[in-house]
This record gives sequence, structure tokens and C-alpha cells, in this order.
Amino acid sequence: MKILHVAAEVLPLVKTGGLADVVGALPAAQRALGHEVSVLVPGYPAILEGAGKLSPVEGFAVPGGRLLRGRLAGDVELLVIEQAARYARPGNPYVDASGQDWPDNLQRFVLLGRVAADLCLWDPQIDLLHAHDWHAGLAPAYLRADGTRCASCFTIHNLAFQGIYAYYEYAFTGLPEAFYRFDGLEFHGDWSFMKAALSYSDAITTVSPTYAREILRPDLGMQLDGVLNYRRADLRGILNGVDYAIWNPETDRALARTYGIDKLAAKTHNKRALQQDMGLAVAPARPLVGVVSRLTLQKGMDLVPGAIESLLAADQIQLALLGSGDRELEQAFAELAERHAGNCAVSLAYDESLAHRIVGGADAILVPSRFEPCGLTQLYGLRYGTLPIVRRTGGLADTVAGYRAQAKQPTGFVFETASSRALKRVLGRVVEVYRDGPTWRGLMQNAMRCEFGWDRAARDYDKLYARIRRG
Ligand code: ADP
Ligand code: GLC
Repeated sequence: MKILHVAAEVLPLVKTGGLADVVGALPAAQRALGHEVSVLVPGYPAILEGAGKLSPVEGFAVPGGRLLRGRLAGDVELLVIEQAARYARPGNPYVDASGQDWPDNLQRFVLLGRVAADLCLWDPQIDLLHAHDWHAGLAPAYLRADGTRCASCFTIHNLAFQGIYAYYEYAFTGLPEAFYRFDGLEFHGDWSFMKAALSYSDAITTVSPTYAREILRPDLGMQLDGVLNYRRADLRGILNGVDYAIWNPETDRALARTYGIDKLAAKTHNKRALQQDMGLAVAPARPLVGVVSRLTLQKGMDLVPGAIESLLAADQIQLALLGSGDRELEQAFAELAERHAGNCAVSLAYDESLAHRIVGGADAILVPSRFEPCGLTQLYGLRYGTLPIVRRTGGLADTVAGYRAQAKQPTGFVFETASSRALKRVLGRVVEVYRDGPTWRGLMQNAMRCEFGWDRAARDYDKLYARIRRG
């Protein structure tokens, strides 16, 4: 098949979260299954500068710009929309330096969807357009409006971000007025990119089976549970994978010492190096809990200070946190680190290398999310024998087997309620189990044996594509 992925981020060129990891890895896994795969992205400066050799695609028109072609790892074609007025801006793909949405995000992502659909008209060999998150959400609607043969699949990575705009801005889409309806783009008197995708894609997926069920409920459906229930026959949860070429303790060059399931002792060097790097006390007897996360309510980060404070004060645990996001949360963690110097270290940054060193050096990785479509850091933790501590929700529920709750092959710690109290209780259990060396090592081994590679996910997408592709 010929597959066109459409997204606003792709590793290693532009990343704000797990979306980039997925768009960087799934296409290569599909290529390995024998498909012809391209990825279309906006031409942000980081992409134009980082992509290596790019050459114009002759004969394909982009208003006010051009389409460029390059290569991604794994023999995947990279297609970049070069359009200075919309994309030639450094920094974050979605927000300006002060954290405000770019004022022309509507036009930026209309252009992405429009070019994607134009490509499918221009190249009738493309069998399948796979759009990711709201930024690419108009592409399936354009395909439908154009009557293009190409089938469409839309993946929800996060239902919380929908790209909602007012009716007076609808004309910018260039879509027919007839699509502005309750079973089209209309959303409570406004319209949204997400709704377009949910209404007009042939298949809808999200990134874990549990999240696929959760979003059918009013409490997690983000006001779209009605549409999702209407389309539930076409909705699937396909669990993300991990790119083990990037996240592998046996080869990870960011680590002080590489290690593996048969060389577990070497992990302690990474713990010591991390403690030293981040200014923590070198205290082998205390479990070191790592966090690598956006600091937001979704991630349950507001629960952490209240849950961990007394354990930090009692020298029972250490915390190494890397993250950025909400100003108030950043402030709360900075203050926590001040109060508990030596036991709590906080880096309010985005830092790939430190992310690897935390995943390799910590004993456990904490992901206490309120909702989590899939979550990748707990999967990295599993491979590194860094036991995930997670809330039972979405992809976290699908990937971590809790100690005690599921006695068979536990791989981490799971708690139910999104409260500091519940989190405190589970952290207490972590401290207890950590003292029992053989049990902890057993958990590490179980975790490290888990397989969450991309090959399985790529095959699941194959089956789905086969159902929706047109002759
Ligand atoms: P989400 O996409 O919702 O933020 P995921 O767990 O799917 O959550 O993916 C987050 C990705 O971003 C992971 O690859 C994680 O390592 C990375 N990440 C998050 N925060 C940081 C940070 N401050 N520095 C480096 N990497 C980070
Ligand atoms: C989103 C979700 C996260 C998921 C990622 C990749 O950012 O919040 O749970 O892992 O997309 O699919």
C-alpha cells in the first residue's frame, strides 16, 4: 500500500510530546512491512534546517510556497510544506514564546490538511491517508468533499486538544457549507478540526484499547462521547509501541553505563551518576523516583507534592523531576526542591539527554495521570527496569501490571484514585518493596521482559487499513 501520514510533529525534527515519537516510528515500522510510506509535515524552521537534503516536488502546487521532498530514517519519504508566511517561525509549533496559541493556527493547519488532500488527488496511487490529532483533522473532510478514492484513518492522540473555532471563521476552511452540520464539523455552535476528523474519517483509532473505551463515557469524552458512540463501530484502540533503537539500556549512549537484564548491577552506576548530576544525596538505600513529563493537570502532576512531601522529609524516598508546563506547577516543584534539597531535584526544562538519564538512573518512574491516551514514559521505564508507578487509566492500565493487584508477573505499581492520598499510599508501598531486594529485582526482570515494539502495532494498523481501503 501507499500510505501518507499527516502530522504537526515528527521525531527527530520537531517534538513537543509523544505524538512526535509515534510519527517518527510507526511509518518506519510500516515501511519494514513492505509499504511505501510518506510523512507530510509543516515546514517549521527546525524541519527545514534539520531534514538534510530537500528537493522540490515538481508539478505540485502549494499556494505561496512549495512542497519539498526528503528522507527520514527507515526509508520513509518526508514531505515538507514550505510556506514562509505560515510556518517560518522558530519555537513551539502551537504557541508563541508567551504560551499563547499562534494567532493564525487556523490557517496554519488548514494549509496542512488542504495540502494533504491535494496530494491524494495529485497522486492517485496513495491508498491511505493517516491523519494524527486535530492539526491534521481537516484532511479527511477535504477527501470527502473532493470525492477522492483514497481512504482515511484518523488517530486521536489526545482528545483534550480539538482545534475549536467560531462559525465566522468557517469560510477559511473552504469546505462546503453543507459540512457545517451536527454530524459534520459543527460543535456547539462553533466547529472544530477534531469533529471534522471524527465525522469524515473512514476509521478512527486511538492509542490504547482502554482509552478507546474511556472516551465513550461522558467523563472522559471531552464533549465528543456522543459522536464517538455514534461512530463506535469504526473506533479501535491500537496500543503505541516503543522505538527500541532509541530507548534501549543496552545501547543508550546518554547513560553513564549501559546495562541489560543480565547485567542489572550496572544500573546502580546510573543511579549514582544521576544523583550526582542533579545534586541529590548519593543514597543507594532510598528509592529514587523519576518524572519526565509535561507539567499539567492531565498528567496528575498537582497530586505529587502533597503525596511525596512527608516521605522526602523523612529521608524515605528521592525525586528527580524533569518537566515544563503550567507556571503554577513549575513553581510548586521548584519550591519542593528548595525545601528538600538533597532528596528532591527539579529541572524545569526540555532535555532529551536528561530524560534518558532519569529513565536509566531512577528506580521507578511516576506517571500519575488523570487520563492518558497511551503514555510512553512508562513503556520506557519498563524496558530500563525502572518500575512504573501509574494511575489505572488509559494506556497506563493496558501496559503496567500492578504489584499485589495482579500477583502474576507484576511489572510496577498501580493506584486507582486521582488523589494525593492514594498516591501517597502507593509511594509508601514502593518504599516498602524496595527494601526487599529480591522482590524488587523480580519486578525489574518482569518489566524488562515486556515487549512493546512497533511491529505489532504496524500489523494491527495493516488489518484496519485492509478493511477501509478502496479497490
Ligand atoms: P504526552 O505526549 O502526553 O506528553 P507521552 O508519554 O506520550 O506523553 O510522551 C511524552 C514524550 O515526551 C516522551 O518521549 C518523553 O520522554 C518526552 N518528554 C516529556 N517531557 C520532557 C522533557 N521535559 N524533556 C525531555 N523529554 C520530555
Ligand atoms: C498524546 C497522549 C499520550 C500518548 C501520545 C502519543 O500526547 O497524551 O498519552 O502517548 O499522544 O500517542
